[in-house]
Amino acid sequence: MLRRRELVIPILFFFVATIFISFLQAEANPKMQKQSFGKTEDGQPTDLYILTNKNGMEAAITSYGGTVVSLKVPDRNGKIDDVVLGYDKLEDYAAGKAYFGATVGRYANRIAHAKFTLDGVTYTLPKNDGDNHLHGVFNKRVWDAKDVSGRDGQALELTYVSKDGEDGYPGNLSVKVVYTLTEQNELKIDYSATTDKDTVLNLTNHCYFNLSGQGNGDILQTQLMIRADRFTPVDATLIPTGELRSVKGTPFDFTTSTVIGARIEQDDEQLKLGKGYDHNWVLNNATPGSLLAAAQAYDPHSGRLLEVSTTEPGLQLYTGNFLDGIRGKGGKVYNRRNAFCLETQHFPDSPNHPQFPSTVLKPGQHFQSTTVYKFSAK
Ligand code: BGC
Repeated sequence: MLRRRELVIPILFFFVATIFISFLQAEANPKMQKQSFGKTEDGQPTDLYILTNKNGMEAAITSYGGTVVSLKVPDRNGKIDDVVLGYDKLEDYAAGKAYFGATVGRYANRIAHAKFTLDGVTYTLPKNDGDNHLHGVFNKRVWDAKDVSGRDGQALELTYVSKDGEDGYPGNLSVKVVYTLTEQNELKIDYSATTDKDTVLNLTNHCYFNLSGQGNGDILQTQLMIRADRFTPVDATLIPTGELRSVKGTPFDFTTSTVIGARIEQDDEQLKLGKGYDHNWVLNNATPGSLLAAAQAYDPHSGRLLEVSTTEPGLQLYTGNFLDGIRGKGGKVYNRRNAFCLETQHFPDSPNHPQFPSTVLKPGQHFQSTTVYKFSAK
């Protein structure tokens, strides 16, 4: 029989070792931080989640609108900057019209005359962009959040149930968005959804990037490449005409890396309609379910490279043409062309263009879509 006194040393050793191991684990896998982001006007609490990785990259995401509030990324010298536009406070997100960093839906981009017909029924949506409907309301909703961190990195799951009739759309739609910050400096966004009635769905993320750092001037020197031989030209209200037009010989040819500012002021009918780039590109070789390289943007000043891959068939390049002196994070002011968006998506106004890839979701189907924003520096 061991005496009590003889047991003291092994027990003590066990406790010290356990504490030491959990300390080491905590060092290796720091936990996602959570803090309050304030209450909405109608009293709903929102939170801000800070995802980090071992390379010093950090993504702050709020449950309000499933919004990326900041994205801190090293440059070629290891200097960290926040590369997305946004606001410091919830009230500004609630009042804002720019969709900074937001999860956009139920239908990202425009629906002509705010109307579409599905199964013989015509649905009318709110007009919030002239005569058209733009982007839906998901960015102004409070999502349920859950830490689902795992082997791939720290991960935040956001869920939202959009009720049948909300914003005019049919069907109770359950949406899930999972943001994962990987050790490869990727912000991976996995979308999934189910419905109890036929509906239309187009989800995207609306980060406004400035790879030199948010608020640090324009993005006209950013070198952009888009893997698309065609784009969807638009009418005067930015609704696709239905044509898939070759980019060859036009300012829309980004098949080889070209600075955004090189042709943006050209005397081109489509550029004039968009007041710059505000168009959807038809991604080459898009195959449902396949994650393919879609675009890359390189900032020669900081050396930051952003590579975008997606399972989606389309990509909207928006060059911040309507930014008009918005006061954003840390007092920075955002003017025209101070950021660009690369919104992976289905084509605008697909519900009214039966020849475009379908955006209809039916009961029993499981919608899934992935987009990865990967950062590096050279
Ligand atoms: C649209 C722009 C719009 C911006 C903010 C973009 O996705 O293409 O036309 O101004 O979102 O709403």
